[in-house]
Amino acid sequence: MANTEAATGAARQRGATNNLEAFWMPFTANRQFKQAPRMLASAAGMYYTTADGRRILDGTAGLWCCNAGHARPRIVEAIAAQAKELDYAPAFQMGHPKIFELAARLVTYMPPGIDHVFFTNSGSESVETGLKIALAYQRAIGQGSRFRLIGRERGYHGVNFGGISVGGIVNNRKMFGTLLTGVDHIRHTHDPERNAFSRGMPRHGAEFADDLERLVALHDASTIAAVVVEPVAGSTGVLLPPQGYLEKLRAICDKHDILLIFDEVITGFGRLGKPFAVDYFGVTPDIVLTAKGVTNGVVPMGAVFVKKDIYEAFMQGPEHMIEFFHGYTYSGNPIATAAGLATLDTYEEEGLLTRAGELAERWADGLHAMKGLPHVIDVRNCGLVGAIELEPIAGQPTKRAFAAFLEAYEKGLLIRTTGDIIALSPPLIVEPQEIDFLFDTLRGILKTLD
Ligand SMILES: Cc1ncc(COP(=O)(O)O)c(C=O)c1O
Repeated sequence: MANTEAATGAARQRGATNNLEAFWMPFTANRQFKQAPRMLASAAGMYYTTADGRRILDGTAGLWCCNAGHARPRIVEAIAAQAKELDYAPAFQMGHPKIFELAARLVTYMPPGIDHVFFTNSGSESVETGLKIALAYQRAIGQGSRFRLIGRERGYHGVNFGGISVGGIVNNRKMFGTLLTGVDHIRHTHDPERNAFSRGMPRHGAEFADDLERLVALHDASTIAAVVVEPVAGSTGVLLPPQGYLEKLRAICDKHDILLIFDEVITGFGRLGKPFAVDYFGVTPDIVLTAKGVTNGVVPMGAVFVKKDIYEAFMQGPEHMIEFFHGYTYSGNPIATAAGLATLDTYEEEGLLTRAGELAERWADGLHAMKGLPHVIDVRNCGLVGAIELEPIAGQPTKRAFAAFLEAYEKGLLIRTTGDIIALSPPLIVEPQEIDFLFDTLRGILKTLD
């Protein structure tokens, strides 16, 4: 090989910094991005700074995860200290003190009776873990015929096979073959004809929960292990549960001894103005799936909460035997654990798990002022979550909202879009004037959008 500079590793590495090709980006329009990259270089508090030095208000808490904002000192310091003290400990047959401390603290946020927690590394893994616990639990209590899992149309439960099987977003499912067998779905709760522009929970649609009775009639309750829903569906475009819907779902599950699983990956850790959606709605499921906010999104971690009865059902057989054949190399990773503890400290010291409730009215006012702007066909709000649904351009779904996203980025605001829905979920440290900036900016964009 000719010994030219181009052939040396040093030159290759210099070139690599300008090479955007190698990285296949997740859930991204790769070709569009690589023509006009949007690079975030640093972050602090409510703001990102782009590689070209512009300040961007974070209207999405990263991906619904940085609930305490960015670069929070306690969390940064805890991670650095932990990396020095104990970088890794085997997750199987070994422990380290802080993960027990985190588990014990986390379960205090749950309703009485939900008092055990299993650690994962993401929302998707929490979903798989929760579904496996549900199936194995039914078998452990002699209900092995209950093999069926029920999800909901338009539900998002991450991207692994169990999650896309119970999930209900067509683009996330259609490419991947037969998925899990024995899965069915209840109908979604979106009903714009009756509920468009509802402030808070929509009035109509509690009866959509009865769709579970339809599936019970079809499959028989004795084949159904669990139902999984997001209390507020986030990634599908912020779909709120109609008033009374979750209570009804709980009652039907109770009637048929079906486990109810809440996927709180987005709603957990203060997003709605209470620590969890279980508090906000006053409905207690059997299993609660979380991730994201547990470490403020800083180090990957997820946590699956279960009722005592479920944990106890596994604690049988010889004591030297593993009770649940499941776990991840990084379950309870020490650095994630340190981030988790420091995140809880930050939430508690700053009252962040209820702060969304204090700002909710101003947030709702800003959102609902979008009614009447061009193309706006619905607005939805709850806690510090918001959605503005746009009429799609005929024949070009998603294009209008994506244009709004690009324009917002140019104007110093990060929003998220899914389909033609703009989804908003700022860090819980957001100040009222930042809420005003967010909606002023969006209003300007929506007024001029094609
Ligand atoms: C409700 C819900 N479940 C699961 C997930 C998957 O989480 P992750 O991307 O960490 O795997 C998400 C992600 O947005 C989510 O919103």
